[in-house]
Amino acid sequence: MRSHRLHSLRRQDVGKTVELNGWANKVRNLGKMVFVDLRDRWGITQVVLDPATIPIASQLRAEWVIAISGEVIARPTNMVRKDIATGEIEVSATTCQVISEAAELPFPIADGSKIEPSDTTRFTYRYLDLRRAKLKENIIARSTLTRLFRQEFENHDFLDIETPMLYKSTPEGAQEFIVPSRVQAGNFYALPQSPQVFKQLLMIAGFDRYYQIVKTFRDEDLRADRQPEFTQIDCEMSFVDQEQVLETIEAIVQKVLQQYLPDYQPTPFMRLTYDDAMQHYGSDKPDLRYDLRLHRLDAKDFVDGIPDALVAEEAGELVVIAARSCAEKYSRKRLDALQSLFMQAGGKRLAWCKVLADEWKTSIRGGISAATQAVLRTKLALQTGDMLFIGLGASPVLLTAMGTVRQHLAVELELTDPSQFKWAWITDFPLFERNDAGELASMHHPFTMPREQDLPLLGVQPLEAKAQAHDLVLNGVEVAGGSIRIHRPDVQAQVFTALGLSQQEIDSKFGFLLQALRYGTPPHGGIAFGFDRLVMLLTGNSSIREVIAFPKTYKGTCLMTSSPSPLAQELLAPYHIKSLVKPP
Ligand code: AMO
Repeated sequence: MRSHRLHSLRRQDVGKTVELNGWANKVRNLGKMVFVDLRDRWGITQVVLDPATIPIASQLRAEWVIAISGEVIARPTNMVRKDIATGEIEVSATTCQVISEAAELPFPIADGSKIEPSDTTRFTYRYLDLRRAKLKENIIARSTLTRLFRQEFENHDFLDIETPMLYKSTPEGAQEFIVPSRVQAGNFYALPQSPQVFKQLLMIAGFDRYYQIVKTFRDEDLRADRQPEFTQIDCEMSFVDQEQVLETIEAIVQKVLQQYLPDYQPTPFMRLTYDDAMQHYGSDKPDLRYDLRLHRLDAKDFVDGIPDALVAEEAGELVVIAARSCAEKYSRKRLDALQSLFMQAGGKRLAWCKVLADEWKTSIRGGISAATQAVLRTKLALQTGDMLFIGLGASPVLLTAMGTVRQHLAVELELTDPSQFKWAWITDFPLFERNDAGELASMHHPFTMPREQDLPLLGVQPLEAKAQAHDLVLNGVEVAGGSIRIHRPDVQAQVFTALGLSQQEIDSKFGFLLQALRYGTPPHGGIAFGFDRLVMLLTGNSSIREVIAFPKTYKGTCLMTSSPSPLAQELLAPYHIKSLVKPP
């Protein structure tokens, strides 16, 4: 239907007759002339119509779909439009056909509008939101990144193999989405939280290297970086140790970044153990674009004893952050806000000191003596104008609470430049943690291999065991997580037992896996990227909803299609289920 796409015409095309199709991005009716910015996926071309010869021109409205034919003419050199790639020319229309009119728009589509629609409106009219330049660019960037990752995985001999979406309920961590079976009364599938077990079975099957760009499902509380259905770049490798997994994945990511970001200078990803990340940054996904490290303070740092205000009976640990050149920025109100943030995160008390030339200002009753000031100056390399934030509490909560303060300070002090990319591998995670109910739970998932030297700890001190697990962190966001897997059935059974699963539960939930492990299993390991998070960061967005074509709201709703929605009992009956909630 068209001779050119709308980004392509240039001065050398002047004189050509062209046929163009697209949406009327902007219509300017000057009476004798109507100017239309015609838009398609690729760009915008200005079309000029004369209502005297094309009467429909004066009726055109924004977002109508039209087809025009006309002649390319040059715009005078002093009137070249800089805002569009085709700015040197315009097309003088000889015909105009309206293909489809647009109803009154809920919000303007063209760039430059001051009206920003609410999230509810954006989600309800997502197909219109997707026409807007920013969101469209995000979706195109996502497609580019998908292609680049596919290419690199293929270049490294990974096979793209699909795994089932109708899976089995397994305790992998998050709450699952359940699908009732019609044919088998009273039985249910679960949607996969990840293809974890299948990719391990593919290694047992001998495929050696697998990858898949795949939807996975978790019925969790949603937030900016969590959706109920999200996309993983999932992969697995055989006959490898952890180092080889990290090296292969890092090489793939570096190659993709070099192709995607024109100015990208590859530098090796940082490596941090979980313990170091917690001690220095108060987080297992530290943002390394800024320093603001956590330091421990102890009695020897306080020449005349720790001030009473920093001694609490139940919590004797002190952790400090030195923030550079910000003493003037912190009013009482801001400091109070930080204090409550710290306490909400589980800390006991947050004291502050302003390092001033003559006398330090501090919230600590009785102040800080000159001798202690001198010690702290040296220990923390303090300069006049810096600030200290001293958190009081008990580890490990004290560390995470200070980690929250650290993050908050970085935002307030504008240290989080979205065009900077700081990658880090985090390794040596604990194998287990205690969940909210106080039970032992896998920190990663139950298929994660403990460190070889920690195998004897499984039955006796499981919380001391470390895992051969790895997370990849970008700018403070966990963008991927993986591990070396247990390939021995005896170790796998031990881990299930440590997690409190009875033999009967192990058999019913994972019998097939233990069985498979007995038939010749290669050592294997892998990782899965949260692809939405990765695209979010690489496109400078702060929510994954901006890089998903049709996301859900924080309540898990699709406002456009109104789902989830009630089902009448007669539609539920074939699935042998009865809703306890009456449809409205
Ligand atoms: P994990 O549970 O760490 O590992 O998930 C992999 C990555 O997926 C992303 N992610 C999410 N993204 C958006 N919305 C969510 N609700 C969500 N939940 C997780 C994170 C995370 O790093 N099977 C293992 C991988 C393996 O061991 O190889 C797994 O799924 O970026």
